[in-house]
Amino acid sequence: AGDTFKFYSEGEWKVSSSGKSVPIINPTTRTTQFKVQACTQEEVNKVMESAKIAQKSWAKTPLWKRAELLHKAAAILKDHKKPIADCLVKEIAKPAKDAATEVVRSGDLVSYCAEEGVRVLGEGKFLVSDSFPGNERTKYCLTSKIPLGVILAIPPFNYPVNLAVSKIAPALIAGNSLVLKPPTQGAVAALHMVHCFHLAGFPKGVISCVTGKGSEIGDFLTMHPIVNCISFTGGDTGIAISKKSGMIPLQMELGGKDACIILDDADLDLAASNIVKGGFSYSGQRCTAVKVVLVMESVADTLVKKVNEKVGKLTVGPPENDCDITPVVTESSANFIEGLVMDAQKKGATFCQEYKREGNLIWPLLLDNVKQDMRIAWEEPFGPVLPVIRISNVEEGVHHCNASNFGLQGCIFTKDINKAMLISDAMETGTVQINSAPARGPDHFPFQGLKDSGIGSQGITNSINMMTKIKSTVINLP
Ligand code: G3P
Repeated sequence: AGDTFKFYSEGEWKVSSSGKSVPIINPTTRTTQFKVQACTQEEVNKVMESAKIAQKSWAKTPLWKRAELLHKAAAILKDHKKPIADCLVKEIAKPAKDAATEVVRSGDLVSYCAEEGVRVLGEGKFLVSDSFPGNERTKYCLTSKIPLGVILAIPPFNYPVNLAVSKIAPALIAGNSLVLKPPTQGAVAALHMVHCFHLAGFPKGVISCVTGKGSEIGDFLTMHPIVNCISFTGGDTGIAISKKSGMIPLQMELGGKDACIILDDADLDLAASNIVKGGFSYSGQRCTAVKVVLVMESVADTLVKKVNEKVGKLTVGPPENDCDITPVVTESSANFIEGLVMDAQKKGATFCQEYKREGNLIWPLLLDNVKQDMRIAWEEPFGPVLPVIRISNVEEGVHHCNASNFGLQGCIFTKDINKAMLISDAMETGTVQINSAPARGPDHFPFQGLKDSGIGSQGITNSINMMTKIKSTVINLP
């Protein structure tokens, strides 16, 4: 298939028998940058079968050896920072510096996971029976954590490397095998990352990577009988997967509408810089981006002015130039964002900047005086457009946050820690940040969403635990 990147199955790089490929459109040039294999269902079957077989001996490989291989892969990944980051720039228009950071962060995640794994998995429990009423000390129960089997990992386009390794590393350290289905945008960066695991010398079938159209192999993968667990990060598709998948553990993170509540005693400079960083980093294409600002009317004018000054300084242009605002991932995404902007305009929002778009590039835009009837008050733009809703009391802010179908993160800016704690308790989100923008990292922190934002909790330790089950052996004494 000429310049089409191969997929990784049974420890080898292969060309699909379909003879077809999937184009990856560069968001900046809007032309085909790369092509990947359009794998067939038979090829998925082969990958699954080899993953199932490989897992048996992988689980018996000593834990310290599994950790050693992961450390090796982490080092190779960091050595390959430049070519992988270049892919991220071309495939998903991630600013050059952020692309490099993603690769380093991923290497660190893999190493941390190896270290955490040897500790978390290196101990089990010992229980005695006579603590429960009616029992003598005649039963000793030994528990340990055993792998689930074959894990299917489906990361999203915005972190094709980091959100892939956040699933791969916990799965592998725990003795599972793993099948990766990367996002189309970002697939080549992911294949390159998988190559680092290949170079580290993982046994064949322990890690595999299939590429192709979600419409052709998506359901086939997620409903595959060999899959024992799915770890998915993305959008609404996750809800559909949860309805179709069988009786297997699911780990999902499906977006958010992270609210930023600004009280009247807040440090407004701190709040403004966090709003701009939180709302506009990677052009707002993060689940944890600040997606709605809920500010007390008394400080709203000052805050909006401060935010606008900073928005005015954001650089806009190609990711190669390391601009702050770069083209959004696809044309349909840009169209969706534009739809939200037009709706807000029609319904009377105040435009702090002029709306400007060229191709997939949308200039950063702050929308003030957003009202409850506007789509942007509730929907996730996943773009550089941020709504501001003015509130007259804190309860209004908490109510707006909790009325969302999402519940990923939220943040509060105030100097009063007692108030902050009470508001944090009242917010129905997986995490609340006090005096900082929402963020997933550091990567060992628990990361979870309530409601439509997800199932289960991530973060290195939680993911290792989630990708194992408890096995008990009970010794019965005479
Ligand atoms: O959008 C994915 C989500 O996990 C965000 O991660 O590190 O940008 O907070 P982060």
